[in-house]
Amino acid sequence: MSTATLVPLHWRACWNLGTSALLAWVLTASFLRPRLQARGGLNLLRLATASPVVRGNDTDRQALLQFKAKITGDPLKIMESWNSSLHFCQWIGVTCGRKHRRVTKLKLRILKLSGSLSPYIGNLSFLRELDLVGNSFYNQIPQEIGGLRRLEALHLANNSISGEIPSNLSACSKLISVDMTNNQLTGEIPSLLGLLSNLKVLGFFHNRLIGSIPPSLGNLSSLEKLGLRNNELSGIIPEAFGQLRNLSFFSISENAISGIVPVSMFNLSNIKTFDIVVNKIQGTLHSDLEINMPHLEFFGVAANQISGKIPISLFNATYLNVLELNGNRFNGNVPSLEKLEKLYDLELSQNFLGHGREGIYNNKISGRIPEGIGNLINLELLVVFKNQLSGPIPFNIGRLQKLKEFFRSQ
Ligand SMILES: *[C@@H]1O[C@H](CO)[C@@H](O)[C@H](O)[C@H]1NC(C)=O
Ligand SMILES: *[C@@H]1O[C@H](CO)[C@@H](O)[C@H](O)[C@H]1NC(C)=O
Ligand SMILES: *[C@@H]1O[C@H](CO)[C@@H](O)[C@H](O)[C@H]1NC(C)=O
Ligand SMILES: *[C@@H]1O[C@H](CO)[C@@H](O)[C@H](O)[C@H]1NC(C)=O
Ligand SMILES: *[C@@H]1O[C@H](CO)[C@@H](O)[C@H](O)[C@H]1NC(C)=O
Ligand SMILES: *[C@@H]1O[C@H](CO)[C@@H](O)[C@H](O)[C@H]1NC(C)=O
Ligand SMILES: *[C@@H]1O[C@H](CO)[C@@H](O)[C@H](O)[C@H]1NC(C)=O
Ligand SMILES: *[C@@H]1O[C@H](CO)[C@@H](O)[C@H](O)[C@H]1NC(C)=O
Ligand SMILES: *[C@@H]1O[C@H](CO)[C@@H](O)[C@H](O)[C@H]1NC(C)=O
Repeated sequence: MSTATLVPLHWRACWNLGTSALLAWVLTASFLRPRLQARGGLNLLRLATASPVVRGNDTDRQALLQFKAKITGDPLKIMESWNSSLHFCQWIGVTCGRKHRRVTKLKLRILKLSGSLSPYIGNLSFLRELDLVGNSFYNQIPQEIGGLRRLEALHLANNSISGEIPSNLSACSKLISVDMTNNQLTGEIPSLLGLLSNLKVLGFFHNRLIGSIPPSLGNLSSLEKLGLRNNELSGIIPEAFGQLRNLSFFSISENAISGIVPVSMFNLSNIKTFDIVVNKIQGTLHSDLEINMPHLEFFGVAANQISGKIPISLFNATYLNVLELNGNRFNGNVPSLEKLEKLYDLELSQNFLGHGREGIYNNKISGRIPEGIGNLINLELLVVFKNQLSGPIPFNIGRLQKLKEFFRSQ
């Protein structure tokens, strides 16, 4: 994930300015010492420090040992390297800051580990990245995670984590990317997550989250990707989502979300994926609705209860690959497809399209398949059965070299 690239640690960001200037000076000096020495100066500062910070920190070591103690399955014997003959900075999966020897990354991806997450993990106060993707961690994420004030990436996808999303995560204000996809999380999305103003990626696909999407998420002004597909969410799409100017990926499909799509969302000009497939969304998309999404690649609203005409502006989206409008109550004509050269999946079935005059599966479309179909050079699937089409199949359908399936019957 590109947004998980981590910025260099800024040392002084952590100092509480409430402490006395002298104490702050001593502490700063002691932590800066290795760097200053490396530049060949100010050896005097050594006198101002008591303990040698370069040896690392016992709190981190304790936290890692507690983490290890909660590992119940380790068939690859990864944790054997976590022993006293090696400094913890050399243990598999552990990365430390070069100078201060504090744990900055804990990365144990796809290593067949099982176990629960020790609350001690919240003591790794210099941690910037926690990546346990693709293991079998279970039980809940401890609230102590809120102690990770420098955490930027929390990647726990593909585990068996249950319980609720800890609300204390909102204290990890540096978070850029959170991905807990494919777990068994329950409960509601904590409203406090709206405080994570640096967040770019929030992924909770395939969990068991319930309740509504908190409107506070509309305050995540940096948000680029929001993935909530396949949960048990209800309620509406918050009006405030129209403020997410940088949003490029929006997927809430396979939930039970109702209400309408806030009109302001159609102005989110960075959207590439807009996916609300299989919900209970209602309302009308007017034919003159201005969908101002020039980068749109995937537009899926299938299997909802949307009525009215298909917006013409949608057919101006020249990068569109997939257009799924099937299983709604759209009526009227299908606008011209001629600009959609990148389209390979067009699904219009099970609507009230056409008027028995002209304009595809189970609609009322009659007349001929238009010659212009030959312009859709990337089309792979065309389903037109249960309509009232007549006339020959257009000659130029032969230009559709990627067409894999063509269903047609009366
Ligand atoms: C280790 O780090 C913790 C938290 O940052 C701090 O309170 C503690 O004094 C440090 N211990 C040592 C031995 O440096
Ligand atoms: C400690 O870990 C290292 C590295 O994996 C390994 O070579 C060594 O045998 C281990 N020592 C013990 C006592 O397990
Ligand atoms: C670390 O975390 C544990 C559990 O959250 C706590 O009991 C312990 O006192 C903390 N502090 C240190 C320095 O280990
Ligand atoms: C959770 O956050 C609250 C508020 O910051 C704090 O008081 C509490 O100690 C945290 N809980 C844990 C278990 O760290
Ligand atoms: C999770 O597992 C699925 C299926 O095996 C895989 O496609 C996906 O890439 C994995 N996710 C991550 C973040 O590794
Ligand atoms: C969004 O942020 C503003 C300003 O910080 C705050 O007043 C508002 O309550 C927040 N909205 C929600 C829904 O949390
Ligand atoms: C939105 O994205 C632009 C371009 O990447 C970036 O310059 C800007 O800072 C982002 N806005 C927020 C609020 O993150
Ligand atoms: C969409 O953006 C245009 C131009 O910035 C603005 O005039 C219009 O009011 C916006 N529409 C909505 C529904 O926010
Ligand atoms: C489609 O694009 C053309 C040319 O870019 C523009 O003139 C027209 O207004 C657009 N139509 C809609 C409905 O957005």
